Amino acid sequence: MQMNDLIVKKRDGYALTTEEIQWMIRGFTDGTVPDYQMAAMAMAIYFQGMDRRETLDLTLAMLHSGDTIDLSGVSGVKADKHSTGGVGDKTSLVLVPMMAACGVKMAKMSGRGLGHTGGTIDKLESFPGFDTALTMEQFLHNVETVGMVISGQSANLDPADKKLYALRDVTGTVPSIPLIASSIMSKKLAAGADVIVLDVKCGAGSFMRTPEQARELATEMVEIGKGAGRNTVAVITDMDEPLGNAVGNALEVREAIDALNGAEPGELMELCYTLGSAMLTAGGIAADDAAARAMMQNAIQSGAALRKLKTLIEAQGGDASAIDDPKLLPTAPVQVEATSKVEGYVNQIDAADVGVVSMHLGGGRATKESEIDLRVGLVLHKKVGDYVNLGESLGTIHAADEISAEEAVKLLLGCYHIEQDPPEKTPFIKGIVR
Ligand code: URA
Repeated sequence: MQMNDLIVKKRDGYALTTEEIQWMIRGFTDGTVPDYQMAAMAMAIYFQGMDRRETLDLTLAMLHSGDTIDLSGVSGVKADKHSTGGVGDKTSLVLVPMMAACGVKMAKMSGRGLGHTGGTIDKLESFPGFDTALTMEQFLHNVETVGMVISGQSANLDPADKKLYALRDVTGTVPSIPLIASSIMSKKLAAGADVIVLDVKCGAGSFMRTPEQARELATEMVEIGKGAGRNTVAVITDMDEPLGNAVGNALEVREAIDALNGAEPGELMELCYTLGSAMLTAGGIAADDAAARAMMQNAIQSGAALRKLKTLIEAQGGDASAIDDPKLLPTAPVQVEATSKVEGYVNQIDAADVGVVSMHLGGGRATKESEIDLRVGLVLHKKVGDYVNLGESLGTIHAADEISAEEAVKLLLGCYHIEQDPPEKTPFIKGIVR
């Protein structure tokens, strides 16, 4: 087989066979298919797409490119959750302990974030000593005995995706539905859970700009999951404005602790309840949505979910004192209000641009090697639909110094679109694909 022939075939709009896809991914993983040919193939896929059989074949070929996790020795329902990524997304910090409190075994491998804020494991490093580099034995032991684990991705899990994603990142080929679906699902399938719940973001702050595109991606991933014999559900959710109020690592941990403490329910909890309900019903732990919600509300109100977060931190070597006293979380030395220069209704808050504000403050990574500052970020006080008076604070900037704070205030004011008329409210949960 010649890689050049496969590139030409895909470029001209033909489907690749199972054998061709397996050969290509094997060669790309062992280096016999060079990056430049794989980049050309990614571009051909970007323009020509892949049918469902090809996408499943690509997913399975990537999944088998490295180690897979065997959770068959762990008792009970084993579940995993994935978000396609958004600004202020601290869902896993709430959902994982809440699900553990409801009796689901949560086996989660998370990435570090590249971009506006850190990933879940960066956020968890707000707890001193928290270990995200677990061995496979520790990972399996914690799932069984603690009922949950959140670890960095093991080095040899899905090496084909690691290489391909890095290549796509620098060749304009990230936003392709078959490539995104196979990338996400190969990692999720390799991680071994039997119930997979996907949070597919939709809007200005995400890959999928429209609900139609998000539904297409969600459907593709659910079909791959089913094709691989896993119980998979996707929830399509709004990412036009940041999720919740905090954007930034320790600030998001604080918001998650407040949510687990039963803080006023907003869209963060609505999302956690929707994802959790999908997980509990797909896993057969709750008979229906109403029963699932009652279990989850009980886990929050009784304090069981918050205690589980503490258990998770301590089981991975972290100091969990900040859960009882959030003032102990890393805190930025400078806090400044971004006050509105106009009055009216907030019609739009550009989520991607809010992410840039957090990056500018040092809360995100520009490159894989960059250090992130866990202390910095922002807390929004006004969301879409709220009325703002002249001089009222839109958000608090948490910065390392006065200069970056001043610049961040200007940037944050630019993220808000304030008009005289209230905006049309669109639903936060846009659909569920089972
Ligand atoms: N997240 C992934 O893991 N892969 C993609 O291709 C896009 C988002």
